[in-house]
Amino acid sequence: MHINQDILESAIDHLSDPGYFIWDDFISKEEVGKLVSIADEGNQSGDFKKAGIGKQALFQLDKSVRGDYINWLDRENQNESVHHFLNKIEFLKSTLNETCYLGLKDFETHFAIYPENTFYKKHVDRFQQNAHRVISFVLYLNQNWQNDHGGELAIYFNDKTEIVQPLAGRLLLFRSELEHEVLMAYKKRYSITGWMLDKDMSLTFLP
Ligand code: OGA
Ligand code: NI
Repeated sequence: MHINQDILESAIDHLSDPGYFIWDDFISKEEVGKLVSIADEGNQSGDFKKAGIGKQALFQLDKSVRGDYINWLDRENQNESVHHFLNKIEFLKSTLNETCYLGLKDFETHFAIYPENTFYKKHVDRFQQNAHRVISFVLYLNQNWQNDHGGELAIYFNDKTEIVQPLAGRLLLFRSELEHEVLMAYKKRYSITGWMLDKDMSLTFLP
């Protein structure tokens, strides 16, 4: 697996301060193309579900908060490009554990599609119902993204705002307690979003 050591070190530094890191060309444009096709196929077969807020009893669908559709990924997924991405995230997770002692045990991740004119209002990814999310990651899959397509991610920290364009192949990493927001996407927006967790979720699925 090819991971650039200098960028990796920079990512570790930036995750401790200011708490986020933008990693361009985390995966190649060719891989991006394959992942977009997988997302499109899944979408056409009805595998994507309207995303909600909260979990189980507290789960709500609210278009005024978020407008995306999601499809969870797992390691059973046989697709080579998906595997490749999951392996890279797994490696990143291990490295972060060795260097930052974050106690990361697992990760969960899904494709997300924001149809035209949708957004995700300001929120944090770590809260009562999602207490185990430590590091959020988003791999952007938007080829030929233009400024007027919108859909940027705004991260808020220390009274500052960073605006991140959702460019193909870019991985954004940030601490899950940071406030952030997906600005209005004027064009269909693709990503793979996920969270590194301080709990082993596979245990949750035991009978
Ligand atoms: C999320 C989220 C950011 C993005 O799904 O919780 O904040 O840029 N996504 O897609
Ligand atoms: Ni979020």
